[in-house]
Amino acid sequence: MDPRDHWRQVYETKQPGEVSWFQDSPSPSLEALDRIDANPSQSLVDIGAGASVLADALLDRGWSDITLVDIAEPALDAVRRRLGARADQAHWEIADIRHWRPTRTYDIWHDRAVFHFLTTPDERQAYRRALLAGTHPGSHVIVATFALDGPDKCSGLPVHRYDAAGLSAELGDDFVPVADWIETHITPWGSDQRFQWAVFRRA
Ligand SMILES: C[S@@+](CC[C@H](N)C(=O)[O-])C[C@H]1O[C@@H](n2cnc3c(N)ncnc32)[C@H](O)[C@@H]1O
Repeated sequence: MDPRDHWRQVYETKQPGEVSWFQDSPSPSLEALDRIDANPSQSLVDIGAGASVLADALLDRGWSDITLVDIAEPALDAVRRRLGARADQAHWEIADIRHWRPTRTYDIWHDRAVFHFLTTPDERQAYRRALLAGTHPGSHVIVATFALDGPDKCSGLPVHRYDAAGLSAELGDDFVPVADWIETHITPWGSDQRFQWAVFRRA
């Protein structure tokens, strides 16, 4: 199945709390932002934002330049509806990261649980092209994937699991490692999922 059809169907048929990656608070992402002393005057793009509440939390904290990118329109529609009038304060892009060519750069590139779906070198190369186009020297990149001891599937799709060194190798020398840590995410049905978080700074 085409990934766009897969993800559309997921968001059309499941409630937010029925997917494994659901969080009622985006605290791991906020913790990552704290680690780099991020502040609301910066720009941030959330890659594969899904229906995550990160946008809500950032707007609550006064961020004014946030962009949400996702392959699945129903996911971003759900966030738009939830935000109501505040939706106008964010930018929205329905795009496949493998083909997305950002027309501007962002201070912070955030990706929770998207990169790990790119299981071929060509797909990861395409992601890296978008990453290079969407960041500038000094930009921070926050990536969270399933860890080496995490699940081997997400949403029924195979994933590639990483440790911090593996993520660093994928992003390449332009992205200098800043921090990495493991988080245990608890799914809505109470199982553990180990995530590898890593932060990089573009040289
Ligand atoms: C596991 S969910 C994570 C959602 C969100 N980041 C979060 O933490 O709640 C993966 C998300 O990536 C999106 N996605 C998957 N493949 C994509 C691609 N090639 N380009 C853009 N978005 C993609 C899906 O639609 C889905 O919303």
